[in-house]
Amino acid sequence: MYLCDELMTSELSMEVPVYCLDKCSEVTRRFFETYAHDADFVARSPGRVNIIGDHIDYCNFSVLPMAIDVEMLCAVRVLPHETSITLTNADPRFAQRQFDLPLEDSLGIDPATSDWSNYFKCGLLVAHKFLQAGSEPLHDVGMQVFCQGSVPTGGGLSSSAAFICATALATIRAHRGRDCVISKQDLTRITVDAEHYLGINNGGMDQCASVCGQRDHAMYVEFKPILKATPFPLPRGVQFVVSNTLVVSNKFETAPTNYNLRVVECTIAASIIAKRYGITLKGDRGPGDLRDVIDTYCDGLMPDLRSGLEGVDQGIARLATALDLVEETLGPKSKGYTTAEAADALGMSPAQFTTEYLTVFPVRFHTLQLYNRAKHVFSEALRVLLCLRLMTRPVTDTQRFLTTFGALMNESQSSCRDFCDCSCEETEQISQIALENGAYGSRLTGAGWGGCTISLCHGEESVLSVKKALHEQYYNKRFPHLSQRELEAAIIISKPEEGSALYEHCTAV
Ligand code: ATP
Ligand code: GLA
Repeated sequence: MYLCDELMTSELSMEVPVYCLDKCSEVTRRFFETYAHDADFVARSPGRVNIIGDHIDYCNFSVLPMAIDVEMLCAVRVLPHETSITLTNADPRFAQRQFDLPLEDSLGIDPATSDWSNYFKCGLLVAHKFLQAGSEPLHDVGMQVFCQGSVPTGGGLSSSAAFICATALATIRAHRGRDCVISKQDLTRITVDAEHYLGINNGGMDQCASVCGQRDHAMYVEFKPILKATPFPLPRGVQFVVSNTLVVSNKFETAPTNYNLRVVECTIAASIIAKRYGITLKGDRGPGDLRDVIDTYCDGLMPDLRSGLEGVDQGIARLATALDLVEETLGPKSKGYTTAEAADALGMSPAQFTTEYLTVFPVRFHTLQLYNRAKHVFSEALRVLLCLRLMTRPVTDTQRFLTTFGALMNESQSSCRDFCDCSCEETEQISQIALENGAYGSRLTGAGWGGCTISLCHGEESVLSVKKALHEQYYNKRFPHLSQRELEAAIIISKPEEGSALYEHCTAV
């Protein structure tokens, strides 16, 4: 995987904003009840919803997420010259944790166990590494922390990224003091692959959206040639209904057969295509990815790829070529590869192949679905660019815009189901109900295998009609015992929100 060295945000304020702590009265009240002391500050980072472009960020293809108004808040009291960290959570499912610094190099993160404190430790670890790399001495700084999250966990809205980004932000603030300046660039750069310490080989979409989100704007997030987040306003009247299947899919627990396996399959597919066309991949860390393959193949054949909105048409042309390469190279084996067959295609022994591809993040499979995964990645990356082009050009015919955009979302859902194999029956049902009741397009969002769906609506009336139908046909039937509060939380009509922020006592702002 990559580690992004640079981040550019067009038109974005480059510093994490600081607001008055009065805005966080509930979490600071809970902090006081827990620790009998006032919190010094609150660090906040939001969840995100991805409009389109799932399971492609780890291949370095661009995505279209937006930060939303569910969030992780960490209220913190700094304990100078102490080493103890105490974590309390508003959610009783997450019991209190306490540990002392310094722990060994990995801060005691054990990828063999799934504990919520591991996510906190990931944020702490990357923040410590960042401070040390910048030659800031790591003096002892203990913390009492009260965490309050409203992002549904394992729901495809990036509760984990919201938590890690808030934690990393809190740790840097605790070390640097209250007048510190923290750049969004640094916070994104250090958090994008923090979950790798947990054994999850994620891409960088969630952290970038959570840190860099901008109110009333979706984000065009690019990973190559540099990590870049370009905000753009949603066309007038466009509304997204985000509804939770209430099927929880924990990325960590299912990683060897689901998330990490998809990453590995895409990497192997890239290597096989590269070998077939004599392409030397530039992957700076291990084997290259599908983005490297198509960029290297097209360089010289097509004009140089520009970044940002200027490169959209060039990207579309390149991805059409990429889909042809998939058919020519992997199409004959659309039923999947055994380990021996994949090794053979790469001219390696099975043992060499296993060492190279299957051990860093362990995976389990019957056959490797290389054709399906590569087809999903290139076609989904293409749909992202087509959607972006639609959304960033003036809308002259609203109906045409909505049906074209909706069709791309529906194709994305079919590809996630048939080629990426990350959908599930409940997601299919929600999407179907939404489409039958006024939505123009509907798809899963995030990692999938449950979690949330996102449906494209236009105007209040269609939002209300989709919401009513989902209550009647999905939630009341499948989950008749939900409380009113749970039912309300299951459907989020969210507008794009601002990314990470700090809240300080007013005199300090
Ligand atoms: P996706 O990555 O698909 O968008 P997600 O980030 O919500 O979904 P996971 O990556 O599986 O899902 O992360 C869920 C885990 O993150 C939880 O099991 C828990 O350990 C941790 N977590 C998330 N929210 C909280 C919270 N409010 N309090 C404590 N831990 C949390
Ligand atoms: C999870 C990962 C992201 C991305 C999505 C799927 O949310 O954390 O990096 O891969 O799944 O698009």
